[in-house]
Formats: sequence, C-alpha cells, structure tokens
Amino acid sequence: MINKIEAIREEVNAVKAEIPAKVEEFRIKYLSKKGILASLMEEFRTVPADQKRELGQKLNQLKNFVTERYNILKENAAGTSAIDVSSIDLTRSATSFPVGARHPISIVRNDIIRIFSDMGFTVAEGPEIEDDWHVFSSLNFPADHPARDMQDTFFITRNPIDVLLRTHTSSVQTRTMEKNQPPIRIVCPGRVYRNEAISARAHCFFHQIEGLYIDKNVSFADLRQVLLNFARQMFGPETKIRLRPSYFPFTEPSAEMDISCDICGGKGCPFCKETGWVEILGCGMVDPNVLKACGIDPEVYSGYAFGLGIERITNLKYKVKDLRMFSENDVRFLAEFESAR
Ligand code: DAH
Repeated sequence: MINKIEAIREEVNAVKAEIPAKVEEFRIKYLSKKGILASLMEEFRTVPADQKRELGQKLNQLKNFVTERYNILKENAAGTSAIDVSSIDLTRSATSFPVGARHPISIVRNDIIRIFSDMGFTVAEGPEIEDDWHVFSSLNFPADHPARDMQDTFFITRNPIDVLLRTHTSSVQTRTMEKNQPPIRIVCPGRVYRNEAISARAHCFFHQIEGLYIDKNVSFADLRQVLLNFARQMFGPETKIRLRPSYFPFTEPSAEMDISCDICGGKGCPFCKETGWVEILGCGMVDPNVLKACGIDPEVYSGYAFGLGIERITNLKYKVKDLRMFSENDVRFLAEFESAR
C-alpha cells in the first residue's frame, strides 16, 4: 500500500489542468466519494493493526497533498474560458463583424444642424401627430387652402377637431413661439407626411428642417446672409445663391432660394434643367399675423423663417436619384455612406 500511495502522489503531482472542466475531472477522479482516495480509505480498513499507524499517517499526508493540489489548480484555472485553448487556432484571421453605417438622411441632417448651431441656432422638436391650429391656422393658412384637403394631408380625425400628420415642420415654429418670448433662434428637424403617390420623385413621408429667428430689428438682409453662409458651408465656398419671390401663407415677403448647380458650375446641364440653378428651400419674413397668433407683439419684434427638405439636400450632395431608396433599408445602399463620413 505504501507503494500505491507513492505512485498516486507522483501521478497527482504531474497533473496539468488549465481549465475549470479539467480541474473538475481531477476532483472527481481523486477526491469524490467514489474517487481514488476514498477507495484507499476503504482498503486501509483491512490493513493489519501494527501497520495502521504508519500507513494512516502516509494516507493523511496524501489526502492533504491532493487537496492542496486541487485548490491550486482550481485557483489557476479560475477566469480561463471553458474551452480548451489548445483546440483554438490562434493564427486564424479574425472574422469581421458587419458594422452599421449612419443613414444618409441622418448624416445630412446632422451636417445642417451643425452649420446652424455654429451660427447660434438651437434645436427644437415637436410632435408628428398635430392639430389644425399648429399646422395650418396659426400659420395664416386660409380656410380653403388646398393643403387642408384630404388629398394633400393625412387626417386622423376630422370634426369637431382635426387631428393630422404634420405636413411640414413649420408647426414647431408655433409651438416654440407659444411657449417662449424672443429672442428665439431655432432649427427644427423632423419627419413630415403628405398624401402623395409614391414614386422616384415623391414619397408620402420625408424630412424637413425649419429655421426661425425672432428678435428686435431682424431684417431680410440677415436672412440672406445666414442662408448664404449655410449654402457655402454645405456645398462649398464658391456656391452662389439666388432668391426668387414666392408665396407662403406664413411669410411676407416670401422667397425661394436656388443655389448654383454644383454639377455644371452654373453653365447649365440636364441636372439643373439647363438653368445653372437648383432650388433648395423656401423662406421669408414671418407674417405679423403668425406672430400675433403665437402671442408675440409684431410691433416690437420681427423675424425670418425658412424650411428645407433634407432629402433634397441629400440628393444634391450624393446624387441619389430615387427617393424610395431612403426608406427601403437595403444595406447595399446604406453601406455606401459609411465612407461618406
Ligand atoms: N413649410 C414649407 C413647406 O413645407 C417650407 C417653408 C417655406 C418653411 C418658407 C418656412 C418658410 O419657414 O419661411 O413647403
């Protein structure tokens, strides 16, 4: 039996168990109820009385040794993975994870916000489900304006109250002016909805950014300068702008702004329909009726507003021909913009 004890001691001493599963195997083999030590104890009972003292000591020493070994192995293996490292090929090249890219609309929206926030504008937001007051009435739309028609606007309920999906982000102007007195200087990004047949050039939802500046002595020249600065930062320092008279119920005077076509440099090409100019936004001086409706005194304050379509700007920057691409979520399309940033 002495020889057996010695052999087990050497065997235990040589055991290598680097991972928790192997350590557990060790415990079961030597220290469990049916393990080697237990069976040695069993054998010990049959040992003649005169050898009991010496063998008993040896056996105890062995038990202590195995327990100690077990504790050391356990400690060393703790924190290592359950996988046998020797079975892992550490020279294999790494599997790549597909990394998401920012949506082109988000990229351009963030660019626009950054340009305006550098000029002191803060971001304001409002709800997409709106009422007639915020989308139309407060903004000086006449009662019979075609935008109030079901063919142009998605109504959720009609009569006695009209609840609808906002058709423009101008509604956030009203919401902000109702709650704050000037100076107000905000840009309002958001999604808008219109009852349009979906095609390459029109969609039933798209994105806008509204701008609004109300203070004492705000002039059309201030508006022009801010828009020129925006156009140059967005499309390059050589960009020219042109303001054409237009009409919006909520601004007077109103204008539409064109930028020089960056494809032909203003010479005329199919993209700009040979005019050398492309339209990018609507703007104007806020109509006094709108200020009044929102609780701001038009005798004291004046201001300008502008509204632009983010898809339109994105198309100009990235030449995306079909509006539907923006909402199809085809990863092959979206991945193209990873490098655009
Ligand atoms: N709300 C207009 C639209 O959806 C865009 C717009 C034009 C906004 C002129 C303005 C503005 O604030 O002054 O077509």
